[in-house]
Amino acid sequence: MTDTAFLLNGTPVRVSGDSPTRTLLEYLREDQHLCGTKEGCNEGDCGACTVMVTDENGPRALNACILFLPQLHGKAVRTVEGISGPAGELHPVQAEMIAHHGSQCGFCTPGFIASMATAHTTGRQDHDTTLAGNLCRCTGYAPIIRAAEAAAMAPIPAWMQTDQHNLPAVVGSGEAVSLSGAYRPTTSDDLADWYAENPTATLIAGATDVGLWVTKQLKDLGPIAFLNAVSDLQQIEQTPGHLHIGAGVTITQLRTALAPHHPSFAELLRRYASEQVRNAATIGGNIANGSPIGDGPPALIALGTTLHLRRGDDSRSMPLENFFLDYRKQDRQPGEFVAGITLPTNAPNLRCYKLTKRFDQDISAVLGCFNLSIEAGQITQARIAFGGMAGIPKRAAAVEAALLNRPFTLETLQSALPAFARDFQPLTDMRASSTYRLTTAQNLLIRYFHDLNGTRTNVLEVAL
Ligand SMILES: Cc1cc2nc3c(=O)[nH]c(=O)nc-3n(C[C@H](O)[C@H](O)[C@H](O)COP(=O)(O)OP(=O)(O)OC[C@H]3O[C@@H](n4cnc5c(N)ncnc54)[C@H](O)[C@@H]3O)c2cc1C
Ligand code: FES
Ligand code: FES
Repeated sequence: MTDTAFLLNGTPVRVSGDSPTRTLLEYLREDQHLCGTKEGCNEGDCGACTVMVTDENGPRALNACILFLPQLHGKAVRTVEGISGPAGELHPVQAEMIAHHGSQCGFCTPGFIASMATAHTTGRQDHDTTLAGNLCRCTGYAPIIRAAEAAAMAPIPAWMQTDQHNLPAVVGSGEAVSLSGAYRPTTSDDLADWYAENPTATLIAGATDVGLWVTKQLKDLGPIAFLNAVSDLQQIEQTPGHLHIGAGVTITQLRTALAPHHPSFAELLRRYASEQVRNAATIGGNIANGSPIGDGPPALIALGTTLHLRRGDDSRSMPLENFFLDYRKQDRQPGEFVAGITLPTNAPNLRCYKLTKRFDQDISAVLGCFNLSIEAGQITQARIAFGGMAGIPKRAAAVEAALLNRPFTLETLQSALPAFARDFQPLTDMRASSTYRLTTAQNLLIRYFHDLNGTRTNVLEVAL
């Protein structure tokens, strides 16, 4: 089978012959003339293109502008046109947006409605979080949040409850191994064989990075494999003392799995991009892209995470920090892919601090992750890692050495501050100056001391 088959507003559609990197947004607006879904930024930042996508795990909000059509195979898509009822009945979130004056120019409104309807369907009431990826330039958020709150208790309309039930009929029998010329493996064994034979191919997981190579850089990606049907890469397994996380686990799923063990890391992930991006982005993609400002690696390095790689029949593992060699250069062979990670469940002193210009949905200027073991008042182990301070996510080895086997006191931490300059010579760029980065990194160590001693240090917790 080479056609991409999915449900669009309840009706089965098949797409054939398109480029595998054609986006859902282009298809909706150009082929289906469903122009309610808007193009704002075309890079995942504004939420104007938000749609609700349902699969066997339920509905989630996604950005249509960085979603390639083959990623939708076997799923159901609802645009703003399918969120109102078949006879034009308003969805409760639409009725409340009108009642609460939640729209002025209206450009952002379909995206808000898609996010709000998805949250309404899944029972989410953390509206500030579910709507952080939808930008509105003119109404202001208070009326929109009031509309979401007012709609929360209304029953889910019948037409919004059919998609998951109707999914099995969409693709019929047989798994598609190729869609629009792109390879679509369903097991990591198949992926391993194919990638070893096609080592120059581009792997696409959530497409939250790769999507921009197409929409912004107009790149031709060459041979492609989509990873989103490889179910054995999407597993989370808990064994005594450890979590094993497959590379295809999304940031949303990771956040849920981490919350009981590492609440500070889970809270960091709440500020990772937006709901729509977290619902698509995978931890494998976050590690493989090797970004020096990615949010996953510093926290994982501070935890002492092991990375698992695979090429053909060969697998190897390494401490995650050893994977990052130099700016955008990783210890990964041609044809080798990230299979997963293993991390400890017990790290009560792990704290992650993300500094950004805007609180929500912004890339880190500095990300500091601290994990000290303290026994009888002495620092017995130190793992400290930073993003945004070097060309790679990096441990603060000199700072760690200055802390080790010393009493956990403010004086000890202050005496370790000069060591930051030995570990890092950060860049000045549009996010922050070198001086800002070095100074705030030092301040974060002091914040860590106060945080572990029970002082409220989060801006959301500090009250006058
Ligand atoms: C609006 C927006 C905001 C963002 N904000 C943040 C943020 O706050 N914090 C942050 O850390 N990131 C952020 N990102 C970046 C992005 O979400 C992450 O890097 C993401 O985790 C990439 O995962 P993905 O599954 O989408 O990867 P993809 O885009 O599919 O792939 C990224 C790279 O990894 C490779 N790859 C993917 N999976 C594998 C694998 N299993 N093995 C080997 N190679 C693989 C791909 O070939 C590609 O080179 C943001 C992105 C957008 C668009
Ligand atoms: S158009 Fe802005 S997120 Fe898609
Ligand atoms: S109503 Fe104009 S951008 Fe939101």
